[in-house]
Amino acid sequence: MTSKYKKIFITGASTGIGRQLALDYGGQGAALWLLARSQEKLESLEKEIKASGGTARILVCDATIEKDFLTALKQAQEESGGFDLVIANAGWGGKMQYPGDNNISVLNQVIDLNFRAATQTLEYFAKYMVIARKGHLVGVSSIAGFRGLPSTAAYSATKRALISYLESLRFSVQSFGVLVTDIRPGFVRTPLTDQNKVPMPFLMDVDVASFKIRRALERGRKRFAFPWQMAVMVHIMKNLPDFIFDWLGTIIWGKHAVTGRPGKSEENTIG
Ligand SMILES: NC(=O)c1ccc[n+]([C@@H]2O[C@H](COP(=O)([O-])OP(=O)(O)OC[C@H]3O[C@@H](n4cnc5c(N)ncnc54)[C@H](OP(=O)(O)O)[C@@H]3O)[C@@H](O)[C@H]2O)c1
Repeated sequence: MTSKYKKIFITGASTGIGRQLALDYGGQGAALWLLARSQEKLESLEKEIKASGGTARILVCDATIEKDFLTALKQAQEESGGFDLVIANAGWGGKMQYPGDNNISVLNQVIDLNFRAATQTLEYFAKYMVIARKGHLVGVSSIAGFRGLPSTAAYSATKRALISYLESLRFSVQSFGVLVTDIRPGFVRTPLTDQNKVPMPFLMDVDVASFKIRRALERGRKRFAFPWQMAVMVHIMKNLPDFIFDWLGTIIWGKHAVTGRPGKSEENTIG
């Protein structure tokens, strides 16, 4: 699949979906600006991308530290002269347990990364794309954003908020020729899901996920939930009357609420 994007910015590029997207776009000769906290992983990715014919500039930064993050975004904008594609991908599962010793800390970290940093990324570059009257803004939400899932209050809520933000942002920028896509993955095999102890139906390899995401972006999709089996399941769940959802949730997930291990929340993730 050929790509129309020449200059691309990706957050959360050191592992998982972001890393694979970077490798695939880099292999097609794109110039990449890649942000994450792990310098070592980004440097090794940079080498791989250069070896495959692309160029990569790495930005080592914690996206939840606003001052540093905005400085990194500014640097990327100035160096690139403007992006064709921006992917706000960095995210964290932060599963919460009840009773839990550190749920508030998990909650804050998840909100700061999954919602604040993601929307700051998109908002920052939206300005320049609107002025240039072109560009593509992408947020990576999740199928977990459709309903409040058990033990993932912070994750589900931030992804749902991101979905609303993306929908709203589209109305604001589309008349300027700027596209907005909401990518909603199901379960993808990455370090995020490697720690999951729950069943992960239709778990997908990250290279397949990257292919599907890139194809959806090339096609200018507004929303893309995948794999289709999860999208269908979630669509049904989303449209269930509340009393059936509550009943199913209590039967299926109620047990987890009383058997959760206290104080281990930060170790747990979800897709
Ligand atoms: N995998 C799935 O099944 C699945 C399903 C639905 C949605 N998603 C979403 O897809 C996105 C990517 O997930 P993934 O599965 O690829 O996870 P991943 O492999 O854990 O990657 C997360 C990325 O975010 C970066 N990151 C974490 N905290 C950061 C921070 N404070 N500042 C900057 N970067 C930070 C990580 O790099 P550093 O640690 O180096 O900072 C890493 O590059 C997330 O938004 C996730 O919610 C994933």
